[in-house]
This record gives sequence, structure tokens and C-alpha cells, in this order.
Amino acid sequence: MPHEPAILVFDSGLGGLTVLREIATARPDAAYTYVADDAFFPYGQHTEDEIIARVVPLIGELIARHQPDLTVIACNTASTLVMDHLRKAYAVPFVGTVPAIKPACASSRTKRVSVLGTSGTVKREYTKALIRDFAGDCETTLVGSEHLAALAEAALRGERASDAAVAAEIAPCFVGGGDAATRTDTVVLACTHYPLLLDQIRRLAPWPVDWIDPAPAIARRVIDLVGPKVADASPAPARMIFTSGRNSSDLSGALKPFFGVAARAPA
Ligand code: DGL
Repeated sequence: MPHEPAILVFDSGLGGLTVLREIATARPDAAYTYVADDAFFPYGQHTEDEIIARVVPLIGELIARHQPDLTVIACNTASTLVMDHLRKAYAVPFVGTVPAIKPACASSRTKRVSVLGTSGTVKREYTKALIRDFAGDCETTLVGSEHLAALAEAALRGERASDAAVAAEIAPCFVGGGDAATRTDTVVLACTHYPLLLDQIRRLAPWPVDWIDPAPAIARRVIDLVGPKVADASPAPARMIFTSGRNSSDLSGALKPFFGVAARAPA
């Protein structure tokens, strides 16, 4: 790996920024390109065949154009489908984002865990296999959310998500209300958009639970592959690309906390 690796981070929209934020904290000296496939958002409402047909060639074009040393698919809805296709098609190392069912079930005390993702992610065979392989004696509830990703996108644009809408999306995660010893105590955030709404989600939860955000684990995996920060290296401005052609400057205030450094439009 070069001293200042080029890292491509990809999502259907702005949710992958919650992953980029963790990676950029660990490797502030890397050169980042963030690509939001907003022309095809939301992925949660496309069929599996549509997502494979969209993402696999698009990632190929992005690799050819930006020559990353590592590509992070910061999207559960895509990663639960395309990682094998990508690894077969392209030589660049990939890190995917899949529901954190194993750590959630390992840490749950009540052994009741919910998985909150897009309707696509919770239907995937990949997600069901994670449950079969890693849920152990936990009872898991799969909750497919129709609107949370779009509400999170709107929130980053400065439009507040209504409490009623957010509460309705998270309500099915909470199972077994009466008894604190047996009710849900852990919820997997299986969509990278949801941590953008975490303060509101926590406030509206009927009771406190552990919300499992996979971003720190993904950042650790990236560091395993690219190595730790090189002392004294200075951060390059991150590149922000929307497949719709949208200009990132209308979002520059909202994006700054995620990049750690200034975002700039594609060269
Ligand atoms: N951020 C994406 C994920 O992690 C999905 C949002 C969408 O496009 O539906 O699943």
C-alpha cells in the first residue's frame, strides 16, 4: 500500500458518510473519493438483479477513473448482494458493509435482537445466512424500513424528519415490552443512513437499547488492509461525487463534519 492510500467510499446516497467519518478519523492522511449513487437512490426499492446490474459496472468505471488502492462499499443493501461479483471482476481490495448480527447477538443480554435495514437488506439470503450462522440462541426480528434512508437524506439537507415518521419506522424493533429481562435490548443499524438520525432515534425509542453501528468495525478492517496513519502526512481535500451530477457545494456545510477536511468537487 502507498503511504497515502487512495480510498474510494461508495453508497447509494449520503449514508456512507457515517462510514467515511470513522475511516477518515483513523486515516486522516488518506486521499478520499466519496461517490453517492443518488441517481439510483434508494437502493432499498430496487430488485436484486437491478442492483447487481447497476453497481458492478459502475464500480468498474469508478475504479478505472479514480484508481483507488481500496474500495469500501458503505451500503448494506448493495454489499449483501454484490461483494462476490466485485471481487471476481476487479483486482482492487474491497471492504463491504453487512448487518452486524454477530457482535449484536454476542453482546445482547436478553437474547432479543432486532435488525433494522432497508426492505431489500432484510429480505436477502445473505442476511438470513448471517442469522443462521451467528445468532446462536438469540431471537432476531428483521425490520424492513421503507422511509428512514430518505428521511436521513432529507435531514442532511436541513429538513427535519418528523418524530411521528421516525417513531413509526423504528417501532417494530421493540419486542416484548413488559419485561426488561426479556425484551429487545439491541438493535443492529443495518443501513448506513440510519446513524445520521441516531440522536432522534434514541430519543424516540420506547426504551433504551444498544444501537449497533458497524462503522468502527469497518474502519478497523480498512486499517488492517491499508495500515495505520503515517505521522506528519497532511490530509488531501476529499473528492465528493454524485452520479446525478449534483454539485456538492450546496451541501458543503453539512458535509464538513464527515470529511474532517474540506470536500471538493470532482476534478
Ligand atoms: N445506505 C444504504 C444501506 O446501507 C441504503 C439506502 C438505500 O439506498 O435504500 O443499506
